[in-house]
Amino acid sequence: LATLGLRHGLHVGTAVNMDALNDASDPQYRKLVSSEFASVTAENVMKWESLEPTRGTYNWAPADQFVDFAKRNRQSVRGHVLVWHNQLPAWLTSGVADGSISKQELRELLRKHITTVVNRYKGKIWQWDVVNEAVSDPWDTPSTLHYKGFWAQNLGPGYIADAFRWARAADPKALLFYNDYNIEAFGSGNPADDKTQFVYDMTKSLRAQGVPIDGVGSQGHLGTQYGNFDTLQVTAALKKFSGLGVATAFTEVDVRSQLTEAVQAGNSEEINPRLQASAANFSVLMKACLAVRSCLSYTVWGFSDKYSWVPGWFSDPPEGLATIYDENYQPKRAYQELKSDLIFA
Ligand code: G3I
Repeated sequence: LATLGLRHGLHVGTAVNMDALNDASDPQYRKLVSSEFASVTAENVMKWESLEPTRGTYNWAPADQFVDFAKRNRQSVRGHVLVWHNQLPAWLTSGVADGSISKQELRELLRKHITTVVNRYKGKIWQWDVVNEAVSDPWDTPSTLHYKGFWAQNLGPGYIADAFRWARAADPKALLFYNDYNIEAFGSGNPADDKTQFVYDMTKSLRAQGVPIDGVGSQGHLGTQYGNFDTLQVTAALKKFSGLGVATAFTEVDVRSQLTEAVQAGNSEEINPRLQASAANFSVLMKACLAVRSCLSYTVWGFSDKYSWVPGWFSDPPEGLATIYDENYQPKRAYQELKSDLIFA
């Protein structure tokens, strides 16, 4: 996939699980990360809770190892993630909750975090996910779309512009991305209920204010139970974002399915349609990315069902089968589909 993608100037990438990469009993994982992908994203080790588990004491080793691994393999790196409301260190969230960290101090801690991390990997990161998942979903309360989560609640939405400015100051060459899910296609066009429109309006306004946002990453966490996207719809969304002067990318693609008892028992009549629908969705996003010049990379969120985050997250009802290789590293239909999209583009 790496080689075929680069023919089109497209970096096909994967999220990397560092435990799997370092598991000597599973050499196949490391082999496939190295051979199939031109770009890598750390699935967890560059998140704040991993980098600074104790206040003031940085745990750089896993992230350093990840960045060195990419360099040795001549892979570009998507840095993930500078500002997110999940996987924050407990000292930070509890400090804010008990009032021992003031709002002013929190803003200063964020500035320091961004500056320190971006500076450490300066020159080694192609794209940084600067702000991740800042916008609510229609199923949240209130249902009118809004800036959600720890950072907006404590600092107000102005933290978004600040974060991009601090990141740019620390590494002027890295491409700075806003990253989110459920923004693959436009809906009603009303930012009150259309998340893609909300993110589009936000990006437009940030650009108009001169905030250094270079790209919008569409995660691409899809599910076969939700039906298929249409290639033209997704292409149109990427194009519309490009019209703001930003790059685009698919940053965390996977397409999960519900695991009925029959699926879990290995019933191929239930498994095959899921694999087919999953492949079709992987392909829609790939075709759209190939059709739009601004789409720089297509990253899958893990490549094998052996390590996918999906079963751990969606257990009631159970979901899985979300990646392009099965648990034994056999390429699935989705892999073949991506390959043929790249060959025939
Ligand atoms: O590191 C601890 C370990 O010490 C402990 O023993 C173990 C027991 O549960 O948990 C480990 O932490 C887990 C961590 O991954 C590292 O493996 C957490 O429980 C688990 O919740 C965490 O899940 C990650 C999730 O983000 C958490 O927010 C997934 O691996 C990761 O794939 C997922 O990635 C996110 C992107 O960053 C942003 N977009 C959505 C995407 C999917 O949720």
